[in-house]
Amino acid sequence: MLFFDSIFQDNTKNSINSDYSCKNWNIETWKKFPILQQANFDKTNEYYKILNEIAQVKNFIEFDSLERIKQKLSAASLGHCFVLQTGDCAEQFSDCTKETVTKKLAEYKAQKEFLQKVILKEVLLIGRIAGQFAKPRSEELEKLNSELLPVYRGDIVNRPDKNLIARQHNFKNLKTAQKCAQKVHKLIQNYNKCDEIFTSHEALLLEYENCYTKYHAGFHKYYNSSTHFFWIGERTRQLNNAHIEYAKNLFNPIGIKISENINSEELISLINKINPLNESGKISLITRFGSNKVQKYLPPLIQAVKKNFFNVTWICDPMHGNTEQTIEKIKTRNLNNIQKEISLNMEIHGNENSILAGVHLETSEQFVTECYSENSNITISDVPKNYKSACDPRLNPDQTREILKIFSRLN
Ligand code: PEP
Ligand code: CO
Repeated sequence: MLFFDSIFQDNTKNSINSDYSCKNWNIETWKKFPILQQANFDKTNEYYKILNEIAQVKNFIEFDSLERIKQKLSAASLGHCFVLQTGDCAEQFSDCTKETVTKKLAEYKAQKEFLQKVILKEVLLIGRIAGQFAKPRSEELEKLNSELLPVYRGDIVNRPDKNLIARQHNFKNLKTAQKCAQKVHKLIQNYNKCDEIFTSHEALLLEYENCYTKYHAGFHKYYNSSTHFFWIGERTRQLNNAHIEYAKNLFNPIGIKISENINSEELISLINKINPLNESGKISLITRFGSNKVQKYLPPLIQAVKKNFFNVTWICDPMHGNTEQTIEKIKTRNLNNIQKEISLNMEIHGNENSILAGVHLETSEQFVTECYSENSNITISDVPKNYKSACDPRLNPDQTREILKIFSRLN
């Protein structure tokens, strides 16, 4: 199918397109909308030269695979299979080696097999991998050893080390991100040809993401050629902002992270905007409320979706609403809260006659001590012992299985 791909040589030209759903939209229209969470790059000629070089690279994924993943997401929305989206909060360039990627893939596949045995259903595996380099942050600055430093925003922007030089935003990282993502995609393709592992990341830095917008001439569709599935984060999914405008006519399946900060009307408008034809498998709503808020905020959103007959794939992210801090001010998560949010999701979807179609986890292939539970061998005082995440706390392999076991209740 790659044969049919026509690649934009010059992304700055307006693109005319015959698809009726793309009226008043082209790959540049998002630039006219308010945008949040972008890097502060020094936009020299070299910056634009790098973007141009990135736009010339060959697709990381094939257009056909988008149809396949959407069919599976659609099947999941009907309860025929179950989505496991798993991986690092922030992927690091230094981890993009054959050795580390192979270990990660082995762990994700083992998670998938474990979950399949628990739920007795096929599991659709989507890694937070091969491009998960950009992080949205709640604060611009953080105080470290009485010095105010810009926060770490993912390897594509700056470095996590606690000094000013590391924290400066450097656009040369864009090129490294592209090379790493390309390399990891190749490793994934060679890893297991008969059992497809799909890739995903948050589409955050739009000038970078836009380099990957390609047009499939045969199908008259635009798509992001750097990943199978991308999501728009909780901090950038505003209805009239650039990220939604960017995403709205791309062919990829799209995840939208949602919390108590969205109400039913907003959610309805968002779904209508991104999926006006109500295509099944197109939108995944990745809900992340926190175990103490899910009961209040999830039911009205499910009711709104049902009332409008929207086709959506509901995925529970029990991680991002359950982040807390240790006394050392390290981010951590309590396994009991993660379990509780999942249990409540199963209960609420059951009560609303809706289908919980998947789970979204932050996990590591290493035996890290980033998350804890008081009734296990990693308690809160153990958290600093083996903390390796550059951003949010991840489950280690044992903890991941502990969490996945809860889904036996879906049977
Ligand atoms: C994430 O998935 O790492 C993330 C930042 O999520 P959210 O947008 O839900 O906060
Ligand atoms: Co995270």
